Amino acid sequence: MSKETLIKSIREIPNFPIPGILFYDVTTLFKDPWCLQELSNIMYEMYKDKGITKVVGIESRGFIMGPILATRLNAGFIPIRKPGKLPAETLEESYDKEYGKDTVQIHKDALDENDVILLHDDLLATGGTMKAACELVKKLKPKKVYVNFIIELKDLNGKSVFGDDVEVESVLSL
Ligand code: PRP
Ligand code: MG
Repeated sequence: MSKETLIKSIREIPNFPIPGILFYDVTTLFKDPWCLQELSNIMYEMYKDKGITKVVGIESRGFIMGPILATRLNAGFIPIRKPGKLPAETLEESYDKEYGKDTVQIHKDALDENDVILLHDDLLATGGTMKAACELVKKLKPKKVYVNFIIELKDLNGKSVFGDDVEVESVLSL
């Protein structure tokens, strides 16, 4: 199966969630067993030799492929969540959105300096969400951080917000 087939499986919804936004709906990719398997295989091949010890997924759409990938890599899975959702002690990082601010949190004991981290989310747009997640994870001083998306929106140039200390890759570019 080609990446073109995976791209065709993503449903495009104009003007969602607000007018002027073209929404890339990955639920249509996930519901197709062959597309889901292929996506999992591609992501596994990308990271199988990197020594990943924990996959960190960003709420909420990073909670779908994140755990699938973690099981294939024999890694643990860690959630990064929106404020007030994690029950134990947390660290947090705030970031600017188009309108106002948002915050992400992680458990303080989620990872440590022995971990090699794969941060995963479904989509790279401006990069604001993942950049904040990256800064959050770095506070816990892992050995290395890799960043992965299913889809990267090339025109928004979100990759430019990351420094040279993280390796950023996406499966599909749109
Ligand atoms: C979407 C998407 C990414 C983020 C990308 O999540 O799933 O997490 O936006 O945008 P950025 O690169 O400009 O930060 P959203 O905040 O809509 O929440 P959801 O995953 O819970 O649907
Ligand atoms: Mg999201």
